[in-house]
Amino acid sequence: MNILLIGSGGREHALAWAISASPLCDRLFIAPGNPGTAECGENVVIDIADHQALVAFCRLRAIGLVVVGPEGPLVAGIADDLAAAGIKVFGPSKAAARLEGSKGFTKEFCAEFGIPTASFGRFSDAASARAHVAAQGAPIVVKADGLAAGKGVVMAETLEEANDAIDMMFSGGLGAAGAEVVIEEWMIGEEASFFALCDGAHAIAMASAQDHKRAFDGDAGPNTGGMGAYSPTPVMTPEMEARVMAEVVRPTLAGMAKRGTPFKGVLFAGLMVTAQGPKLIEYNVRFGDPECEVLMPRLRSDIVPALIAACDGVLDQITLRWSELTALSVVLAAKGYPGQPEKGSVIRHIERAAAQDDVLVFHAGTKQAALDLVADGGRVLNVVGLGKTVGEAQRRAYSAVDLIDWPGGFCRRDIGWQAVQREQG
Ligand code: AMP
Ligand code: GLY
Repeated sequence: MNILLIGSGGREHALAWAISASPLCDRLFIAPGNPGTAECGENVVIDIADHQALVAFCRLRAIGLVVVGPEGPLVAGIADDLAAAGIKVFGPSKAAARLEGSKGFTKEFCAEFGIPTASFGRFSDAASARAHVAAQGAPIVVKADGLAAGKGVVMAETLEEANDAIDMMFSGGLGAAGAEVVIEEWMIGEEASFFALCDGAHAIAMASAQDHKRAFDGDAGPNTGGMGAYSPTPVMTPEMEARVMAEVVRPTLAGMAKRGTPFKGVLFAGLMVTAQGPKLIEYNVRFGDPECEVLMPRLRSDIVPALIAACDGVLDQITLRWSELTALSVVLAAKGYPGQPEKGSVIRHIERAAAQDDVLVFHAGTKQAALDLVADGGRVLNVVGLGKTVGEAQRRAYSAVDLIDWPGGFCRRDIGWQAVQREQG
């Protein structure tokens, strides 16, 4: 079968790597892709916002399956338009993608279906939001309702910080995303991400991961899309995983089906493991980035039959096998990220890193410029190490990172620190 993958980041390189390894995959196309995905298939230049152009391409190339990487196209209804044209697509409909696209939607959904999450209020004007904060007290969490590229959450330790965040959002500081604001209880616990494949009626557990959102070592600096991740995460024991499936994932699937908007695709639950058990922080409706880069190297089963089963509603017939090894990814970002990343600096010797045992390198923001590979985005490369412990995976990843010659980039040197500390007792 010919497969079309939508997206251009490290997540998509990892997916392209896994999909292209399947005996079921004849030709793999990636739109628009990056220099890394070009090693797994054929990059194609199509405007992915132009759904009719995508439909035409799928017909021309006899595409049997479209896999959508990022959330933007899903929220824009790409899955609906492809499905309407009779094309099989892995990823939720626009209506189901609201689980990521609107925090207020998700909070109300959780309340209706008894899914554990922080208590909350939803506001469309500053005065009532301020009154709620005054009544609840600090610390408290203020969130923009819509997609705000990781900038829409303010953890307010004082009432003043909370009120400043409310004023910033309602005065248009985050554009349309802040037209509505959600105010939440500040939950205490350990964070973990959990991924489940869903077909509308059935869900199967994939694996857990832990991302590192701050830009600099010691979890300092501004929030980013993620500077590194590892999988699995020790807090997600088999017992906790079973609770997450029973208390969070399955009720979500049942609720979405009951509302007539069944969820198909990857459900990515951002969780807080609290003293009372797992609670949902937020949903995403696609693989995480850089989480996908640590999930795919651990997946022992062919991913393509699982993606097709998710489209066809027969995931109950699929079991996925996972490596016992830990995978740990380090993101190499261009200097200036997450603010104004510098573009165009030359990157050398990726092949030396990729040639190491138990190491994979996934491209994100790179570009081929004549004979040079250059930086062309904020997060530029992901270097993944595999090992029997988080410590071993971490050593492998960083020794490969050190073989790459890129003065224009930087990375965190402490990805996995909490789990390594735990291993060392
Ligand atoms: P979100 O964009 O909703 O995932 O939030 C970004 C980060 O803010 C999360 O990864 C958590 O670290 C933190 N966070 C969000 N909501 C809460 C909450 N209610 N309690 C504690 N931490 C939170
Ligand atoms: N790494 C977090 C995300 O993909 O949303």
